[in-house]
Amino acid sequence: ENIPLEMHKVRIIQKLNLPPVETRLTAMQEAGFNTFLLKNEDVFMDMLTDSGVNAMSDRQQAAMLMADDSYAGSATFTRLEEKLTDIFGTQYFLPTHQGRACENIIAQSYVTKDSIVPMNYHFTTTKAHITLNGGHVEEIFIDEALNLTSDCLFKGNLDTAKLTQLIVDKGADNIAFVRMEAGTNLIGGQPFSLQNMRDVKAICEQHQLLLVLDASLLADNLYFIKEREEACKDMTIREITRELADLSDIIYFSARKLGFARGGGICTNSKEAYERMREYITLYEGFLTYGGMSVREMEAITVGLEETMDEEMINQGPQFIEYMNTALQKRGIPVVTPAGGLGCHINASEFLPHLKQSEYPAGALAAAIYIASGARGMERGTMSEQRDENGVEPLAHMELVRLAMPRRVFTLSQVKYVIDRITWLYENRDMIGGLTFSEEPKVLRFFFGRLQAT
Ligand code: F0G
Repeated sequence: ENIPLEMHKVRIIQKLNLPPVETRLTAMQEAGFNTFLLKNEDVFMDMLTDSGVNAMSDRQQAAMLMADDSYAGSATFTRLEEKLTDIFGTQYFLPTHQGRACENIIAQSYVTKDSIVPMNYHFTTTKAHITLNGGHVEEIFIDEALNLTSDCLFKGNLDTAKLTQLIVDKGADNIAFVRMEAGTNLIGGQPFSLQNMRDVKAICEQHQLLLVLDASLLADNLYFIKEREEACKDMTIREITRELADLSDIIYFSARKLGFARGGGICTNSKEAYERMREYITLYEGFLTYGGMSVREMEAITVGLEETMDEEMINQGPQFIEYMNTALQKRGIPVVTPAGGLGCHINASEFLPHLKQSEYPAGALAAAIYIASGARGMERGTMSEQRDENGVEPLAHMELVRLAMPRRVFTLSQVKYVIDRITWLYENRDMIGGLTFSEEPKVLRFFFGRLQAT
C-alpha cells in the first residue's frame, strides 16, 4: 500500500463532534439539503473546502504575534510585498481581502461590455465578476478536460489551437485578457503544465494580449509540474514558480488557499496595470498597505508563501487525495482521475445513474454523504451554475461532489473512515433521491439556496 507520509507533526488539536445519524438527518433537512447551510457543530469532518481552513505551521503562528498594525506603511505589508517580489519577481503588489476581490478589481479594470475572457476553465466567482461587467467567459480547455476517468496528466491545459482560432474569429481587440487557472478547481483540481503556459504566453505576446494567472491553487499545480512534467523534474519549486510568474502579466491569488491564511492580492510588473487597478483597492478593500486583511493574517501569508516553496510541504494534499481516490476506485466508486489537488472528486452522475441532471445528482450525493458519515463536501455541478440572461439553467459539464482535503488537518484514519462510509452509501445508493430548489437566489445560488426532495 502506498502510504502518504506527513513531514510534520500535530501540536495543537481541536475536539471534533460526531452527531448520531438521526441528528445528521434533521440537520440536513434544516439546512435545506445545502451543505453550505449546515452548522459546523453538526459536522464531523469539514471537507467543504480548503479555503482558509488549512492548518498553520508553528512559524506562521509565531509570525502573527509580530505584526505591525499601523494603518499606512506597515512593516507587515513591506514583509509580504518583499516575499512576493522574492518568489514571483514582481515589483508591484495590491492587497485584497480575498481572491474574489481581486477578480472584482481585475474585471472592473479590464472587462468591458461584450468583451471576451478566454480561460482554461471558469471558476464560479470569476465568471460572476466577468459577466457582471458585461463580459463573456470562453472556456477553451482541451477535450480531455471533461473526461472524468482519464490518464491525461495535465487536464487543466488550455487548448492553444482553440485560442488561436478564437482570436481569428473574434479579433484580439475584443479580448479583455486571457486567464489561466492553476490547479483548475471545477474540473477536479487538475493542473496545467509549464509548457502549456509557455505556449499560451507565446500566443498572447503575438496578439498583445494580457495573460492573467489565477494562482489560488498554485501550490498543488507546482507539485504536479514537478512530479509529472518530465522536463521539469530537475527544476526546484522556486524555479518553476518564477518561470510561471515571468510568463504572467498579472498574478492574483486567494491567500485562503495560497499562503495558508486568509486574504488575497494582485501582483504585476506593469506600472500601467498597477496604476489602473490601484484606485479600486482603496475604494473596495482598504488602504494600499492592508487591503482589508488583518496584519496578523498578512504575516502568516508571508511565512506560508515561503513554506509553499518546500516540496515536502505542498505534497501532503495531493498525496492524501491520491490515497483516497485509489481506495475509492478499488471499491468501484466513480472518482475523477487522475487524482488532482484540492480534494477527492466523486462523479455523482455515475454514482446516481437513476437521477436526471436537473435533479442535481451532485447536490443530492453531497447531502447523502453528510447524513451517512458526518463529513460535509460541496456540490460542484449544475447547482453551482448560474442561469443565463434568459433564465435558462445551463447543465454543468460534470456533476461532482468535492470532498476537499484541508492541508495538514485530517489524519489518515479519518480519511479511511470517510472511505468506509462512502462505500456503504454506494452499496445503498438506490435510496438517494433528487433535489429541486425551494428558494433560489439570483447570484451564486449554490451558496445559500435551499432545496427539497423532488
Ligand atoms: N479562484 C479559485 C481558483 C478559487 O478556487 C477560489 C476560491 C477563488 C478564485 C476565490 O477566492 O474564496 O478567496 O474569494 N475557491 C474556494 C473553494 C471558495 O472552496 O474552492 P476567495
